[in-house]
Amino acid sequence: MIFGKQEARPVLDKTNIPVHIAAIMDGNGRWAQKRGLPRTAGHSAGSEAFQNAAEYLQSLGVQYFTVYAFSTENWKRPAEEVQAIMGLLDRYLRKAIREMAEKNIRLRFLGDLEPLPESLKKLIAETNEISRGTTGMQVNVCLNYGGRDEIVRAVRSLVREGVDPETITEDLLGSRLYSADIPDPDLTIRPGGELRLSNFLLWQNAYTEFYFTDTLWPDMDEAELDKAIAAYQGRKRRFGGI
Ligand code: IPE
Ligand code: IPE
Ligand code: MG
Repeated sequence: MIFGKQEARPVLDKTNIPVHIAAIMDGNGRWAQKRGLPRTAGHSAGSEAFQNAAEYLQSLGVQYFTVYAFSTENWKRPAEEVQAIMGLLDRYLRKAIREMAEKNIRLRFLGDLEPLPESLKKLIAETNEISRGTTGMQVNVCLNYGGRDEIVRAVRSLVREGVDPETITEDLLGSRLYSADIPDPDLTIRPGGELRLSNFLLWQNAYTEFYFTDTLWPDMDEAELDKAIAAYQGRKRRFGGI
């Protein structure tokens, strides 16, 4: 066969595009190692894949795209790797600040930003300022983010205010999470072959559809994203009903 075993690209139902897609950007290190490159080269490739994914999903009409960029546990990595990731974020943000208004993308950061390097914090503040004026797709970057940490902080904020325990509802707790005004993800994608959440959006993923693939994050191109969305479109969501 002339086209070998290339799979046909799925045709998406344009009337059933997920409102909110989340992705754990995993597999950068292995992508680089497979090519005999340093792990940091994988993080560079991963940040390009992120940019491309955001633009593609925006073109499909996705309204929220939330990515896991750095977890509260990722500080366990060698200092050089952590530094390289922070450096990439720095470069990415400088570029994003220039392009954001033009692409009308709204950028937000979810996580404990306090321990981040000062220069990065300044860029984040600048990004937030520009984002106020944009109305397009919202991209949420989870940075020094941990799902358990997020819930602990929400509980602390309620206790600090002396809230009557009987008045605590799911909505009230949800309003203290980083994701307060963001709808729950409809689809969460985990590339890189691991079948776990690794502390990503524990509360928000309660009824989310999951898509796991062995494809490494830097290889998650438009065709791979289509496969994830097509899988989502084939699911029946019941939310506990019948
Ligand atoms: C994800 O890729 C990026 C971060 C966690 C920052 P990894 O660096 O975890 O890549 P693998 O899983 O080692 O291949
Ligand atoms: C999850 O990937 C975190 C990010 C992609 C930012 P990890 O590579 O840290 O996850 P584990 O350690 O394999 O669970
Ligand atoms: Mg990993």
